[in-house]
Amino acid sequence: MLSKTVQSKLNDQIQKEAFASRAYLAMATWAEQQSLPNIANFFYNSSNEERDHMLQIFRYINANGGTAKLEEKTGKVKENFKNVLDAFKHVYDLEHGVTLSINELASWCQQNGEHATYFFLQAFVLEQQEAEIKVNEIITVIERMGFEPRNLFYLDKQFKKINEVTVDGGR
Ligand SMILES: [Fe+2]
Repeated sequence: MLSKTVQSKLNDQIQKEAFASRAYLAMATWAEQQSLPNIANFFYNSSNEERDHMLQIFRYINANGGTAKLEEKTGKVKENFKNVLDAFKHVYDLEHGVTLSINELASWCQQNGEHATYFFLQAFVLEQQEAEIKVNEIITVIERMGFEPRNLFYLDKQFKKINEVTVDGGR
């Protein structure tokens, strides 16, 4: 049985994963409107991954005698971006925010003898580390290929490869 405090902290994390999932969906809409279908796919996939994280925590709480809950409102997501680089800088901020909260949660569990939940969170800790590496790699690709209108066709095509790597070797 999870303590009330752990439950409440895990439920807070659920809201953050749900927010990230919604934030990626808004980015998918933006990318579709910019005629960047492969970049849009990247965002759809990322949204699914975040929802999957949310579900893992949701199930963990419920499986351990707690009450998992998705709040009605998880905050306003960003819908407009100056360009592709701006969009991926936002992705970095989003992922980094999640990293900080997962790390904080893991530290709290470690310091408070919540060993099972600490263990459960390890996959999330590593996942965040990978996510940050990946978005930094993407930012490098964008900077190298360029993100002016004339570069966007090839930049978007590049995301076909990036998406394949994510789907096959991501997790
Ligand atoms: Fe996540």
